[in-house]
Amino acid sequence: MSIHKEIHAGLMRASEKRLEHTRRAFRMLPPIREPRILDLGCGTGDVTIELVKLSCGRATGLDIDESALAELERNARAAGLMGRIETVNRSMFEIDFVDETFDIVWAEGAIHIIGFERGLDEIRRLIRPRGFLVVHEMLWLRPNPPSEIRSGWHGVYPGIRTAPEYLAEIPKHGYETIEHFTPPEDFWWDEYYGPLVERVRSLRTKYAGDAAALAALDREEREAELYRRNARWYGSGFFVMRRTD
Ligand SMILES: C[S@@+](CC[C@H](N)C(=O)[O-])C[C@H]1O[C@@H](n2cnc3c(N)ncnc32)[C@H](O)[C@@H]1O
Repeated sequence: MSIHKEIHAGLMRASEKRLEHTRRAFRMLPPIREPRILDLGCGTGDVTIELVKLSCGRATGLDIDESALAELERNARAAGLMGRIETVNRSMFEIDFVDETFDIVWAEGAIHIIGFERGLDEIRRLIRPRGFLVVHEMLWLRPNPPSEIRSGWHGVYPGIRTAPEYLAEIPKHGYETIEHFTPPEDFWWDEYYGPLVERVRSLRTKYAGDAAALAALDREEREAELYRRNARWYGSGFFVMRRTD
């Protein structure tokens, strides 16, 4: 396993606390009987499984990480849900589902990979008329963040912006916003950066004397430290949208 994978293994698993926000977004949708759901960039699929449970529908989890999809399948089987979940190992740049296959497309931490605007455009044809798109993405909590943070984050999330800037784009791409909300400011420290710092510290002992591994650990700790000092500037937001026709 690469040091990068070892540092991050399991860290993106969605905790109950994180899934509360997924549930909150789901409850903003009107009731849909047995919806067909696409979870774009599903990873190990905690969200995919939660959506199937919440909706009594069926979900397709799409990702390029074969081992994450295998984990999703194991977890779905253990939950007795494998009959309602399928996995597709394909890039979101090569989606070839037929038009209007899904009632809901869900993308948590994934749309920035293809880009917000391009994602909205390409996903639209997959959603049935008046169907839904839910996006959870990184955002600036306030306008004009200091340049130290801006330059660091633009490398990872080139499209990061404020919630009003995301909201202004949505109608230009054939959707209306039903609701949007921002999880609390301590969310990302509790969910991700805090556990990351603990993981880095435990791996330092294992890799003492390995300069390349220690450099990778330093990079991760710097990112966490940057976040800790600047948590008031960035976080994430859910955008619950409906396809307009
Ligand atoms: C930050 S994780 C989010 C995982 C999951 N949605 C969640 O919220 O727990 C981003 C996911 O996007 C996947 N990914 C990266 N590039 C991709 C691509 N071109 N097509 C599909 N998925 C991709 C990664 O493998 C990873 O599982």
